[in-house]
Amino acid sequence: MTIENKIVAITGAGRGIGRATALHLAARGARLVLGARSEAEIATVADSIEKAGGSAVFRQLDVTRRADLEALVGLAQDRFGRLDVIVNNAGIGPISRFDALRVEDWDAMIDVNVRGALYGIAAVLPIFGAQRSGHVVNVISTAGLKIVPTMGVYAATKNALRTATEALRQECVPGLRVTEVSPGFIDTTFVDSSVTDPAVREAVNRQKRKLAISPDAIARAIAFAIEQPADVEIGSIVVRPTAQD
Ligand code: NAI
Repeated sequence: MTIENKIVAITGAGRGIGRATALHLAARGARLVLGARSEAEIATVADSIEKAGGSAVFRQLDVTRRADLEALVGLAQDRFGRLDVIVNNAGIGPISRFDALRVEDWDAMIDVNVRGALYGIAAVLPIFGAQRSGHVVNVISTAGLKIVPTMGVYAATKNALRTATEALRQECVPGLRVTEVSPGFIDTTFVDSSVTDPAVREAVNRQKRKLAISPDAIARAIAFAIEQPADVEIGSIVVRPTAQD
């Protein structure tokens, strides 16, 4: 039951949940392979890990490009000789009402939240198969559990990933593990960096100020799934603020 020396790749590791998870796992002895769109942000996270005595490498990536995910997994193999876990965390949430017709935002959510995570899965399966071990952790959302107005497309993308995750779990041979983690309201830059509709952004930010909890809560949940013995699979974890409906 250990996280120590596991090689863990995380997408969207520059801030928010991805960053918190990287720092938490590094403090517990994991070696990190970090990817995100902003090279400056992941470089800073990697630097903090190294300064604290941990180990991290990084690569700029856009999860909508399959080759970028393959390169991230290649980096893990080059630097550490294997990969034990991928956390498909990168995601966006430019939510809005349907009649606002922000169709480009719908496309972007499908590309990042669905295709991006699937490309992560595609990149690791050949090496997890060869190793006969590996762990896919997909970051989903409580938005897919309690469906509310403005979150229709976002929830649909997250539930598409939830559905794919369940089939992947059933297909996986013993030794491979699959976990979905569904966060509720988390205190990150997600709303400001994602929501393009100003009125929706203000409304969600008001709720966030009332409810949101630290991304460390999700980092601990992901660590819990990873630290289980190899024959124990944590299938699904939902982590909400206690005050969230
Ligand atoms: P954030 O906006 O603080 O961080 C998102 C990270 O993903 C950033 O590092 C960003 O660069 C990266 N990213 C976005 N698009 C990317 C792309 N195309 N390629 C590579 N990296 C990309 O958001 P947060 O809150 O940390 O979100 C992480 C995950 O958690 C997302 O999948 C989100 O849907 C999910 N989530 C967040 C909740 C919240 O309340 N903050 C609630 C439920 C789920």
